[in-house]
Amino acid sequence: MKVIILDTVSHTAVDMINAEEDMSVDVKTDLSEKEIIKIIDQYDAIIVRGTKITKNIIEKASKLKLIGRAGVGYDNINIDAATRKGIAVMNTPFGNVNSAAEHTVAMILTLSRNIHKADIFMKHEKKWDKKRFMGIELKGKTLGIIGLGKVGKIVAGICNGLHMNVIACDPFIEADYMRHLNVKKVELNELLKESDFVSLHVHLIESTKNIIDKEQIAMMKDGVRIINAGRGGLINEDALYDAIKSKKVNSAAIDVWINEPFVESRLMDMDEVLATPHIGATTIEAQENVAIDVAHEIIDGLKKGILVNVVNETESQDLFEKTTDGKLASPKLRAGLKNYVIDIDGVLCEDVPNEEQDRMKTAAEIPGAKDRVNKWYEQGHIITFFTSRTDDMKKITEKWLAKHEFKYHYVLFNKPRGGNYHYIDDRSIKATKFDGDFNNI
Ligand SMILES: NC(=O)c1ccc[n+]([C@@H]2O[C@H](COP(=O)([O-])OP(=O)(O)OC[C@H]3O[C@@H](n4cnc5c(N)ncnc54)[C@H](O)[C@@H]3O)[C@@H](O)[C@H]2O)c1
Repeated sequence: MKVIILDTVSHTAVDMINAEEDMSVDVKTDLSEKEIIKIIDQYDAIIVRGTKITKNIIEKASKLKLIGRAGVGYDNINIDAATRKGIAVMNTPFGNVNSAAEHTVAMILTLSRNIHKADIFMKHEKKWDKKRFMGIELKGKTLGIIGLGKVGKIVAGICNGLHMNVIACDPFIEADYMRHLNVKKVELNELLKESDFVSLHVHLIESTKNIIDKEQIAMMKDGVRIINAGRGGLINEDALYDAIKSKKVNSAAIDVWINEPFVESRLMDMDEVLATPHIGATTIEAQENVAIDVAHEIIDGLKKGILVNVVNETESQDLFEKTTDGKLASPKLRAGLKNYVIDIDGVLCEDVPNEEQDRMKTAAEIPGAKDRVNKWYEQGHIITFFTSRTDDMKKITEKWLAKHEFKYHYVLFNKPRGGNYHYIDDRSIKATKFDGDFNNI
């Protein structure tokens, strides 16, 4: 089985795939669409970061079964074309979340102390002017997080440590769970009114496009600071420009842009704007993590038919019937499935030793957990439980799942961590990605 890597990813991924029997990998970066089209029919799987995988490429990919994106976003891949061809597209939603969160916090701190402005001023004006850069402390200020998912949650944790009041709006995370994270759940309008800093951590979908527009900015406190390390398009850049000009918004930090790679934005002419070129995930650790995760995904997908973090959305159920052999025998298989990857780490087993016991509530206590999971299973989706611990923990988990009559396909450990759809924590099952179906079951 042949894999092609089309962008620079950590060499660990190459080594991991080459180490597998019957698998080999070619690394060919900076190819044009035409060049990719010429060679794509040789490959069973593609790994990408930023290269655009267009409809034209997918149509010519006669053997292709999997596309792995080393990173979270996947807007460079034509998902509809892939789904129509039965090709599963997988992202690596966990590897870079910590880096993205740390970048966000770096931007919050920079805005609070005008570090970006002081840097530009000192270098360009060659002057010493302390008064010009009067900052504010973060302690006691309110941070409003829009989207309390994987990144948002880490940002909340760090900012709690900085003694900020953290509030969040996220229709899919319950107030109880937020309380547990020391975060107050609010509606979007309240968040806008209350926050000294507003930070965006949602995906760019129809309902979140321009979630911060003229009207929302008007509701914010005067002098608010805005941070976007989520996705370009969450903020209307023109509205932000006007609001900074009028001093309604004190400053903004933008890592993600409507036009990427960067073409042009009026925001670049403003000292109040801290601009970074989508480097939220650009750390050695994140690149290594996503390379390992995507290599696991491709190996497990091609060799064992285990798919995690599939992002294709389709209602088709019948594909599942053909996959009970657990192999990706044909490219038509599996892409229509939803993967419910349930992170069970550190939560569920009553059989674990002493000090862990308190923290590990039984999932039987979680309202409706078993019924939900079993219903997903009956509907033909793949159910994978993750426990990122040891072999022992895997056995304990399997025993526990059997005892409580959960239906599932796999228990994995130390594999790509978690998934981007649902997880069980110590309170309930949460939808971690808006895919619309959590409320319909
Ligand atoms: N700058 C970077 O380099 C970088 C790196 C990693 C992630 N990201 C981006 O950060 C964002 C968050 O990533 P994540 O891994 O935390 O995703 P996630 O899926 O874990 O979290 C997204 C959260 O948004 C919530 N949500 C959905 N619709 C909402 C709405 N209308 N209002 C409020 N909340 C809503 C979901 O319930 C979920 O909790 C994504 O856009 C991702 O692409 C950027």
